[in-house]
Amino acid sequence: MESKVYPVSDEWAQDALIDAETYARKYRQSIEDPDTFWREEAQRIDWIKPFTKVKDTSFDKDDFHIRWFEDGTLNLAANCLDRHLADHGDRPAIIWEPDDPSHDNRILTYRQLYEETCRFANGLKANGVKKGDRVTIYMPMVPEAAIAMLACARIGAVHSVIFAGFSPEALGNRIEDCDSDIVITADEGHRGGRKVPLKANVDEALDHHAHVSRVIMLRHTGADVPMKEGRDITWDEAVADQSTDCEPEEMAAEDPLFILYTSGSTGKPKGVLHTTGGYAVWTSMTHEYSFDHRPGDVYWCAADIGWITGHSYIVYGPFANGATNVMFEGTPNYPDFSRFWQIVDKYRVNILYTAPTALRALMREGNEWVEKTSRDSLRVLGSVGEPINPEAWEWYYHIVGNGKCPIADTWWQTETGGHMITPLPGAHALKPGSATKPMFGVKPEIVDTDGNRLEGPCEGALVIADSWPGQMRGVYGDEERFFLTYFSTFKGRYFTSDGCRRDEDGYYWITGRMDDVINVSGHRMGTAEIESALVLHEKVAEAAVVAMPHDVKGQGIYCYVTTIAGVEGDEDLRKELIKWVRHEIGPIASPDVVQFAPSLPKTRSGKIMRRILRKIAENDTSNLGDTSTLADPEVVDNLIANRPDL
Ligand code: WT7
Repeated sequence: MESKVYPVSDEWAQDALIDAETYARKYRQSIEDPDTFWREEAQRIDWIKPFTKVKDTSFDKDDFHIRWFEDGTLNLAANCLDRHLADHGDRPAIIWEPDDPSHDNRILTYRQLYEETCRFANGLKANGVKKGDRVTIYMPMVPEAAIAMLACARIGAVHSVIFAGFSPEALGNRIEDCDSDIVITADEGHRGGRKVPLKANVDEALDHHAHVSRVIMLRHTGADVPMKEGRDITWDEAVADQSTDCEPEEMAAEDPLFILYTSGSTGKPKGVLHTTGGYAVWTSMTHEYSFDHRPGDVYWCAADIGWITGHSYIVYGPFANGATNVMFEGTPNYPDFSRFWQIVDKYRVNILYTAPTALRALMREGNEWVEKTSRDSLRVLGSVGEPINPEAWEWYYHIVGNGKCPIADTWWQTETGGHMITPLPGAHALKPGSATKPMFGVKPEIVDTDGNRLEGPCEGALVIADSWPGQMRGVYGDEERFFLTYFSTFKGRYFTSDGCRRDEDGYYWITGRMDDVINVSGHRMGTAEIESALVLHEKVAEAAVVAMPHDVKGQGIYCYVTTIAGVEGDEDLRKELIKWVRHEIGPIASPDVVQFAPSLPKTRSGKIMRRILRKIAENDTSNLGDTSTLADPEVVDNLIANRPDL
């Protein structure tokens, strides 16, 4: 396959933090002599007690363990705050931009962020939170969301941030799964001119999950919300009279830092567990190198803190590096399609990190929205969450970046903690749609279905052959699931679940998930989760969910539903089921298509043939592949004949 190549410009080749030669040298060292490489690289973190051991890991079943910097101790919040105070306490740490541009923005310096974090950390302690306790955070994109996370890290509590787009039901399940008895929330959030009823959602979640003893609520929109006597207090009450200093807890490198729920191929989301030391080194290093981040840069990651991108690249990586972080509560299309670019100009953003889905949504509105802004402050552009199609890449590069900003197409996962395969702006020639080359310490391999390592240009399953510091350490509350999910498919290797192609230049091209995970607007949804939600409805007998191509979202959610006997699948039921899924999981899981089917294509042993359902959803029915194992071939003809016109 031919592809356009954008070489590193002369300017970048001269001034980059990491140029091509440095990359080659450092990469080789990171693989051949990880001990020396990481011993040096880990000095970017202030350790309370320095580590002596660097890496002690094995992906083998009999001796499975992952430990980095094991005997070192540190506090990550102190690394994000305290150590910046002496030299640049007055530097803006957060520039917060509200949803509505006519509202006031807020700027918090590193000193203010330090003080607010300490006050809240003391407030948490006063409310009984101790080291190791799980704290659920369900917040809009406001500085207090980051403050709550950092406050947990400061006292050694384990945060579990739940994206504000999840429903009460999903929130309640996640609170219960990690046995958290405190929830931090706000009255409401703002999003694209609408209000998100966060406190009401918490109340509804807690109606069924009653063991939560404390809810701390930030007044944000000022909505009049009921407060439950004895359980609910406001943020202001929690921090009243608290000191602006709070001794950071000394954490072992492998002590848990946070849990973040993500979807897999089963119905139940996994609590991905990350620990402290390795994650600190990994997020700080990747944030600096992938974006060529320099002190004083204005950096904007437009993700939400509810996802791993927000954890690693709004909170921990950037703050560890003393970055000036733009934090945006709103959406790219409110009040109009120029919003992103206006923010870039308003704060003279140097580094912008966003998702292909946002770019595609803006791209189709026309270039005027972009071109009426200058964007001349931009130096590096980042992309995350899903494969970026070459058309969106070219638009990002030429129209948004004026043809002068390298694009870091960062491939990684909730599980990997940070960037794994990504171009470094001064080191790699770019090919639109390719995540290019591995980060230091990452050893990608492409294997066939039998686990044989493929050499040279090839295509297959993407695995990582050895451990890296930012890797997840476990599935919360389910020790076996970690090994089984990631290390049992291909012996001795971490399986990413992504398909991948390597070209003649050794560039990696992610081709998408190989499991039953759908990537909707860069958000990861398990088909099994949506199916479980659908069959909970009293009129649904059976459901199968697959991905369909979607122009803006990348992938959409296509549901095949069989109703119970005597119930007609009509327009009303279709609407009801969409509402039902939104209620069970949240608006991010809204089905794009619901097709009623008298029955689903199954093998003679009763297994649903998803491959066929995918083909029909893609409207690619000319070649359905092998259908000889179908129990009843007529089922397929019926599905094709009744496919809705989209
Ligand atoms: C899945 C992980 C990465 C943080 C946000 C999403 C897909 C992610 C890329 C990219 C192609 C990508 C993969 C991966 N993905 N980034 N640059 N190019 N695909 O994290 O929710 O854990 O999803 O997102 O399929 O496995 P996540």
